[in-house]
Amino acid sequence: MKPRTLCDGVQWMGAIDWNRRLFDSLIPLPDGTSYNAYLVRGSEKTALLDTVDPAMDSILKHHLTGVDRIDYLVAHHAEQDHSGSIPYVLERYPEAVLICTPKAKVMLVEHLCIAPERIRTVEDGETLDLGGKTLRFMHMPWVHWPETMVTYLPENHMLFSCDFFGSHLAMSDIFAGNDPYVFEAAKRYYAEIMMPFRKQIRDHLKKVRELACTCIAPSHGPIHDQPEGIMAAYEDWVSDRVSNRVVIPYISMHGSTEAMVNYLVAALAERGVTVQKFELSTTDIGKLAMSLVDAATIVIGTPTVHVGPHPSVFSATHLANALRPKLKYAAIIGSYGWGTKAAEQISGLIPNLKVEVLGTVLCKGFPRADAFAALETLADAIKAKHALL
Ligand code: FEO
Repeated sequence: MKPRTLCDGVQWMGAIDWNRRLFDSLIPLPDGTSYNAYLVRGSEKTALLDTVDPAMDSILKHHLTGVDRIDYLVAHHAEQDHSGSIPYVLERYPEAVLICTPKAKVMLVEHLCIAPERIRTVEDGETLDLGGKTLRFMHMPWVHWPETMVTYLPENHMLFSCDFFGSHLAMSDIFAGNDPYVFEAAKRYYAEIMMPFRKQIRDHLKKVRELACTCIAPSHGPIHDQPEGIMAAYEDWVSDRVSNRVVIPYISMHGSTEAMVNYLVAALAERGVTVQKFELSTTDIGKLAMSLVDAATIVIGTPTVHVGPHPSVFSATHLANALRPKLKYAAIIGSYGWGTKAAEQISGLIPNLKVEVLGTVLCKGFPRADAFAALETLADAIKAKHALL
């Protein structure tokens, strides 16, 4: 892909990573991703906003062919998928001044060994005049690191939002429009990256609203040229509203726990409660994270392995706790062979989830009438709580 002109004086200079399938050695990328850098040219000065993942720095080098001078290199965020090619740009443009927040300066020096004398820090609200193009820096900590800022370009009503509003999505289209495919990817991104910082994001969204920008250009995925859609989606995701939905991450070793899960799914469906179940040996954890964005209830299904929960359940529960979804209710179900501490251990794994536990149904061996009756009771309890949402 060649550089793309977004408006007069503003170009996309990013790299599209069609084939990347894992981020942070953790997050699945079923649709690839992109690293968006932007070049803003004023009549006096030129600024490059962010760089690209170092694995794709050859693309940025090619984009910069013919760019004779960069006066400012703006680092919104110190994570390497955007900052990793900063050393190359600083070497190629020895006059360039690196602009970032005070916290980012520390991180860029520590993680990328950048010479501190190349860096100029900016305060929240500070501006930089490029000549007919003004960069207004807005500190936005915790989207999703503590050092992050975004840049507003008032002359073009454009917000360069870094990871905020981003999506891991490789596409040839530069603009998102109101494409539901983009919103699906943006929701996945929110779930995996932003959800733990829901309350901080809620405050930041108000500031973005006040800008009344007509374009939001994130550092991953397509640019939101009709930003109302993504703004409204974010406002919904960070709200306290939950839906009449139960998420069931589970695993089964010999079919007993699965029989319990299937019974509960049917019982909830009969009661008008929507269920999403995720078999953890095969599931995409991104899909699981997305389901947690607005679900009211989580039911964790686990067999017992050496007294405790199955390791896959342990891992998924730890992840759910780290993502801090706005769940209200929880339950634990599963089968064991001769003894179990699975429920106690799972309860200890979810201190961040401010949930009311509606029940624990553990049965020895394959479930029989008493276990199924207990699952009916659990389904009744879930339905009753969801009726009050
Ligand atoms: Fe896309 Fe937090 O880096």
